Amino acid sequence: MPQGPLGDDLLFAGTAAYYRRGRLPYAPGLPGALAGALAGTPGSSGDGRLLDVGCGPGILALDLAHLFREVVGVDPDAGMIAEARREAAARGLAGKTRWVRAAAEELPAGLGVFTVATFGQSFHWMARGLVAATVRDMLRPGGAFVHVADLKGERLATGGLPHPAVPYEAIDGLVKRYLGPVRRAGRGTLPQGTPGDEAGVLARAGFSGPLRVVVPGGQSLERNRDDVVAEVLSMSYSAPHLFGPRLPAFEADLRRLLHDASPTGLFSARGPSTEVRIWRTPQPEDGPTPL
Ligand SMILES: C[S@@+](CC[C@H](N)C(=O)[O-])C[C@H]1O[C@@H](n2cnc3c(N)ncnc32)[C@H](O)[C@@H]1O
Repeated sequence: MPQGPLGDDLLFAGTAAYYRRGRLPYAPGLPGALAGALAGTPGSSGDGRLLDVGCGPGILALDLAHLFREVVGVDPDAGMIAEARREAAARGLAGKTRWVRAAAEELPAGLGVFTVATFGQSFHWMARGLVAATVRDMLRPGGAFVHVADLKGERLATGGLPHPAVPYEAIDGLVKRYLGPVRRAGRGTLPQGTPGDEAGVLARAGFSGPLRVVVPGGQSLERNRDDVVAEVLSMSYSAPHLFGPRLPAFEADLRRLLHDASPTGLFSARGPSTEVRIWRTPQPEDGPTPL
C-alpha cells in the first residue's frame, strides 16, 4: 500500500456528512481569544479578509466570519465544500463567504490578498513548505498564519458526569479489527502519523513566531450514539470509504459496542481545549502596523 497522504484525494472522502455533528467542538472562547490575539494585525478590525485553508465543512471559517469583511474557504473535498456552503447559507452568511474546491497546493488560485490565514487541523495534510511559502505571499505584510488544533496530550476527567465516557479504546480496537493495525489515510497508510516540526517549516518560509494561546475547554457535553458514530466516521483513519462493502457491518458492530457501554445511548464528554499558534509575515518596517 502506498505511504503518505500528500495529494491524496480520498483522505476525508465521505466524512463531510458526519463531520459537523461528530467532531467535538473547538473551545467556546476561541473566536474571542483569537480576536484579542489578532488585535493589531493590519486590516483585522472587521474589514479584513480571512482565508481558511482545509476548511472542511466551514467550522472555523463560519465561527470567525463576524471578525472579517470576507471569508474564503478552500478544501479539495467536494463534500466538505458543499457542507460549508449549505451551513453558510443556513446562518445567513452566504453573502460574505466564498467556498473554493481546491487543494492548498493549488493556491494562490487568484484569490487575492488576505489579512489572516487559518489552518484548522489541516496543515499537517499538506505539502507544508510549498503551502507556507504561497500563503506567506498571499498575506499582507504583518498578516497572520494561524494554526488551530485541539490541545494535544490533555487529560480531561469525565468522572462525576452523568453518563459513561465514550469507550475510545474499544472503538479503536474495533477499527483495527476491520482496517488492520497500521493507521490508514486515504489511499495509503501513516505508520509514523502525520509530520511534526511545524515551527521549522514556518520559520524557513520566513514567518516569525509563534504566539501560542490555549483557549480552555473542559465544558461538559452530552453525546448520543449517533454523535459518536458520526465522530468515528469523520476521522481520516476510519473514514467511510476505508470499510468498502463492510461499512454496514462496521457500523452495526460499533452501535452494539456503544449500546453495551451505555444502554441509555448517552455518553458524557468534556470539550477539548484549543491550541492556537500565530505566526506573522514580515513587515516592511519593525513594529506593529496600526489597524
Ligand atoms: C481535520 S479536517 C479540518 C476541517 C476544519 N478546518 C476544522 O477545523 O474543522 C482537515 C481538512 O483538511 C482538508 N485537506 C486535506 N488535505 C488538504 C490539502 N492538501 N489542501 C487543502 N485542504 C486539505 C481535508 O479535506 C479536510 O477537510
